[in-house]
Amino acid sequence: MMMLWLCVALILIGAQKEAAADVSELSGKWYTVLLASDHREIIEENGSMRMFVKQVDILKNSSLSYIYHIIENGQCAAHELVCDPTEEEGEYSFEYNGHNVFHILDIVSDEYLIYFLKNGDNGDGFHLMGLYGRGPDVRSEIREKYVQLCQEHGIVKENILDLTKTDRCLQARDQA
Ligand SMILES: *[C@@H]1O[C@H](CO)[C@@H](O)[C@H](O)[C@H]1NC(C)=O
Ligand SMILES: *[C@@H]1O[C@H](CO)[C@@H](O)[C@H](O)[C@H]1NC(C)=O
Repeated sequence: MMMLWLCVALILIGAQKEAAADVSELSGKWYTVLLASDHREIIEENGSMRMFVKQVDILKNSSLSYIYHIIENGQCAAHELVCDPTEEEGEYSFEYNGHNVFHILDIVSDEYLIYFLKNGDNGDGFHLMGLYGRGPDVRSEIREKYVQLCQEHGIVKENILDLTKTDRCLQARDQA
């Protein structure tokens, strides 16, 4: 009898562990810390990809809800994008300035994440990489890791923007 309970307990622990390893790591509040692109203008002031992430939620159908601010005519505006999983494991897509796909390159769920995004039907539009933090900034070791990853993905250092030094709509996050 004791043995049986032990088995049940171990199975339950095993099941729990497996559930913890899914995309739920992505959910919750994030801050845009660094952005980089091979087309720098899209992440510069008034650029369409200069997005300040607020929150990510995993929907029941496995899509991601991505809530962000963007500065439109000098005002912080909140928007939502829904990203659907693709056939590739860990990859998501959404339509915005054409077709976009992205995947996570690195994540420590309570600290930071780094993603790589390709725009265009065949990934022949712009490329973009983002570093998000659970707080408004990240440790310098993580920044260095990100710069390295950008270079490995063909984005030069000059095209990395530090958003912590600009208006990221931090006040707007606390309203509504
Ligand atoms: C999942 O649900 C959301 C919100 O209802 C919807 O926008 C999205 O397209 C759905 N995803 C899929 C893959 O059907
Ligand atoms: C961005 O847009 C605002 C408002 O439309 C404008 O005042 C500002 O000069 C623009 N900045 C750049 C770099 O184009």
